[in-house]
Amino acid sequence: MLRTHTCGELNIQSAGQEVILTGWVQRIRDKGGLVWIDLRDRYGITQLMMEEGTSDPAVIETAKELGREFVIQTKGLVIERVSKNLKIPTGEIEIKVSEIKVLNKSKLPPFTIEDNTDGGEELRMKYRYLDLRRTPVRRNLELRHRMAIETRIYLDKQKFIEIETPVLIKSTPEGARDFVVPSRMNPGEFYALPQSPQTFKQLLMVAGYDRYYQIVKCFRDEDLRADRQPEFTQIDCEMAFVEQNDILNTFEGLTKYLFSRIKEVDFADPFPRMSYADAMKQYGSDKPDIRFGMKFEELDDLGKGRDFKVFDDAGLVVGICVPGCADYTRKQLDELTEFVKKPQLGAKGLVYIRFNLDGTIKSSVDKFFNETELKSWAERFNAQPGDLILVLAGDINLTRKALNELRLEMGGRLGLRKPDTYAPLWVVDFPLLEWDQDTARFYAMHHPFTSPKPEDIHLLAGSPGEVRANAYDLVINGVEIGGGSIRIHDKELQKNMFSILGFTDEQAQAQFGFLMNAFEFGAPPHGGLAFGFDRFCALFGGSDSIRDYIAFPKNNSGRDVMIDSPAIISDEQLKELNLKVTFEPAKK
Ligand code: AMO
Repeated sequence: MLRTHTCGELNIQSAGQEVILTGWVQRIRDKGGLVWIDLRDRYGITQLMMEEGTSDPAVIETAKELGREFVIQTKGLVIERVSKNLKIPTGEIEIKVSEIKVLNKSKLPPFTIEDNTDGGEELRMKYRYLDLRRTPVRRNLELRHRMAIETRIYLDKQKFIEIETPVLIKSTPEGARDFVVPSRMNPGEFYALPQSPQTFKQLLMVAGYDRYYQIVKCFRDEDLRADRQPEFTQIDCEMAFVEQNDILNTFEGLTKYLFSRIKEVDFADPFPRMSYADAMKQYGSDKPDIRFGMKFEELDDLGKGRDFKVFDDAGLVVGICVPGCADYTRKQLDELTEFVKKPQLGAKGLVYIRFNLDGTIKSSVDKFFNETELKSWAERFNAQPGDLILVLAGDINLTRKALNELRLEMGGRLGLRKPDTYAPLWVVDFPLLEWDQDTARFYAMHHPFTSPKPEDIHLLAGSPGEVRANAYDLVINGVEIGGGSIRIHDKELQKNMFSILGFTDEQAQAQFGFLMNAFEFGAPPHGGLAFGFDRFCALFGGSDSIRDYIAFPKNNSGRDVMIDSPAIISDEQLKELNLKVTFEPAKK
């Protein structure tokens, strides 16, 4: 080894030892007769010192010529520091240097490698290997590592085995587009990268491996956001001979174990369970943030029939009661109106009712509703003097969506979405199918292998849109951390499902013949779920962006700006793959 210790491990007990350290030069301070260097490695920072008169002048000379991020090896004596820094573990000592060897020089880095860097996101991504030297980024990857280790320990104890599944597969429809890979050996044919190992884990159940898991990369060609990457990681799990409750209990167990081991947060009670229908009605979202209240109250009965056209024509009149905000100014209310009217939300306007501290009620609809009527609204919300009621009206789904965003916005403004408070819940009984207006057909809300609730199977023929699925999501603080379902394990039901989804028998056979055939060889009842591992890590780390928890992430356009990918390939490669590109990429 080129070193006797790391830069994070020496302390006052080490005083008097001769040591050799290696690392990167974080900072040099040259105070005339005294030179200090902060030497950094993965484990911490150790201060080196040289002093004119007592240190070798040649060593001081070398030290003065060092630059930021030079890689050095240094030998010296551990001594007690005069001015101690008790904020870092090595802060009571420093190394009185006797030798310095430059192992490698460094160009001046394009941004400072400090906790608070001056580098913008794009620059840091281009030089991600430098960004990764920064302590906060390193801590994120260490957290990710611990989450993976603890997950494996827990699942291993529960007799799950980790089995790898292939990456070059055939398209599995899960709602997003596939990334495809051309096959040189099979001209004109393509592999698809898995959106998840869904069909393989079901085949493993048929094969008798009744508790499977895998920490696995998944690939989806979809629009990106802070919590979405084109390649991301799942803790993917499947169990046989189970019912929905068994799955929820098992993975609630994993979640509690991770919280307890990593965050030292213990949940005594079972996680609440909420039906999809209730989540939509009370929060306008299938991933409600239940760290705070402000539940929706529907007001159709109170708001309609008073000649107020906006309410009369609406599919739904619904509102929230925001505590302590009755004193919102006109300007603040206008801002909220603009917020709900922005194109992504598309509300037509915002109605407000101020329940003033003196008990009077003032609203933006005073022309249509008298004080007694407005009082009955306040009662519906159980509003207290000082509260502000905000009401939206319009198409049911759009209005719920906009009010959900408004609720989250108000929760944020009031500081109710605390990053160190965790509010998990299971959302259950999702609809099996979702109607798409544009293509005029049903799509599987989860995926086509999800089983309908037995009591709803009779609705499949006449009212498929009303059928509920044995499907569930784990939601924490308004983030969908995981989701899964009990699967169909019967060939006929699976065939029926494909036909409802618009597949002909031939198409279903061509695409999923392998699965349906497997179901003819003794498929056990089975089900499972997958956690979004990156999201789980970001939640534990207190960040909204999963990018911070991925060593080499892509940007919002799906680019890796460090390796400059995606990129064009050579004409020879295209020819070998029998591909012709008709699109002319813009010159860079
Ligand atoms: P689903 O599609 O719900 O289920 O995905 C499971 C979880 O993966 C995370 N996730 C993502 N994370 C980052 N970037 C993305 N683009 C992305 N897409 C999804 C979410 C989500 O809850 N095969 C099924 C699971 C099953 O039925 O067992 C599946 O993949 O946290």
